[in-house]
Amino acid sequence: MKKQLRSLFILSFLFANAQAQQKISADSIRSKMQWFADAKLGIFIHYGIYAVNGIDESWSFYNKKISWQDYMKQLNGFTAKKYDPTAWAALIKQSGAQYAVLTTKHHDGVALWDTKEKHYDVVDNTPAKRDLVQPLFDALRKQNIKCGAYFSLIDWSYPDYPGFTKDSSRYTLKDQPERWNKFKTFLFNQLKEVSTRYNPDLYWFDGDWEHSTEEWQSQQIRSLLLARNPNTIINGRLQGYGDYDTPEQNFPVTRPHYNWWELCMTINNNWGYQPKDTNWKTPYEVITIFTDAVSNGGNLLLDIGPKEDGTIPQQEVHVLQELGKWNAKHHEAIFGTLGGIPQGHFYGPTTLSKDSSTLYLFLPGKTSGQIAIKGLANKIQTIEVVGNGTKLQHKIVGKISWSPVPGIVYITVPANVQDEYETVLKVKLDGPVKLYSGRGGLQ
Ligand code: GLC
Repeated sequence: MKKQLRSLFILSFLFANAQAQQKISADSIRSKMQWFADAKLGIFIHYGIYAVNGIDESWSFYNKKISWQDYMKQLNGFTAKKYDPTAWAALIKQSGAQYAVLTTKHHDGVALWDTKEKHYDVVDNTPAKRDLVQPLFDALRKQNIKCGAYFSLIDWSYPDYPGFTKDSSRYTLKDQPERWNKFKTFLFNQLKEVSTRYNPDLYWFDGDWEHSTEEWQSQQIRSLLLARNPNTIINGRLQGYGDYDTPEQNFPVTRPHYNWWELCMTINNNWGYQPKDTNWKTPYEVITIFTDAVSNGGNLLLDIGPKEDGTIPQQEVHVLQELGKWNAKHHEAIFGTLGGIPQGHFYGPTTLSKDSSTLYLFLPGKTSGQIAIKGLANKIQTIEVVGNGTKLQHKIVGKISWSPVPGIVYITVPANVQDEYETVLKVKLDGPVKLYSGRGGLQ
């Protein structure tokens, strides 16, 4: 009996310990993810030799729109002669973004740094002849912007990478495991280079879909990077070993179930510079997509594609500047907030202050007249127009004194307080937000 009690005691001790451990690791992930959760906006930079011809990054040879040999001829035209990392960082700062992610190596295998591995890089194989990562990270860090390294796991130009390689030689891992091992040594060496030289705050992996967790050794990759910097964040494209999810080009329709997520999106229809693509999003479109992501608890990673010489297309500069103006005016409603109230209470995006006692309502387009909030159980203290200060009146309809139904709040928004792109209202509540979603009457 005594023995049984003892083992029961040991078991419950072990269980409590395991639970405590789990809590510690959940807490430490939460704290390492805090800057990312507060950041809301990042700028993605697809810079590479594909900007020379203005064609699809890597995919153009993969999809046989151009031969691999002709694709690689772009190496000779990549000059970076107007590359100005200080100006890039200033523009990124101006947009309101809190982090930036640079393509250190895309699927074409061309590194933007001076790799010591026997493979392509812009220092040894292009007229640019310089490292394009460090100067940008330095400039970004001066502006207090976190630095992310996009890194393609796939390398379609490496001779020992199976799948599409320069001589089209395919092999299976089962038949030639030693070639795969060679590739992996190369991959790990390049990752060591990136992590030791630049110590990114975030890794943005891509292309994990071509192999399994075991084949990539995702866990080892994660450990390698965390050993260098335990606070670094890894995106969700490492076959199950990332920290957050990365939906792509897809406007959130319902709220994703992840703790952290980031929508990556282009400003026209392509990631890299493509002069033929003139389908530019307008500032209004970008701002409304952005606020929708933030309302749903996510970030937006908005992409720019510099030209081969390093200049940023004017249309992208314009969008970043307009977004920046809007962000500066509406800062408090975006940065450091929480995702908003569930859809259905208000027809539009919303966010909440960290203590959830301030509710921000976003009004896309030229909304004036009456807007409504359903099922808000709090008392409203004040309503004002963000960045403008005008106080607004509200009216509650349908509130019966003895019923739990809070009634519907109507707010009148005059036309003259509207923002050019998206007006934001700040609704101060009497305490943390309380929502009613019953069916009405006495329930
Ligand atoms: C894709 C593509 C790639 C692009 C990336 C950005 O997965 O392979 O070309 O860089 O998405 O999210």
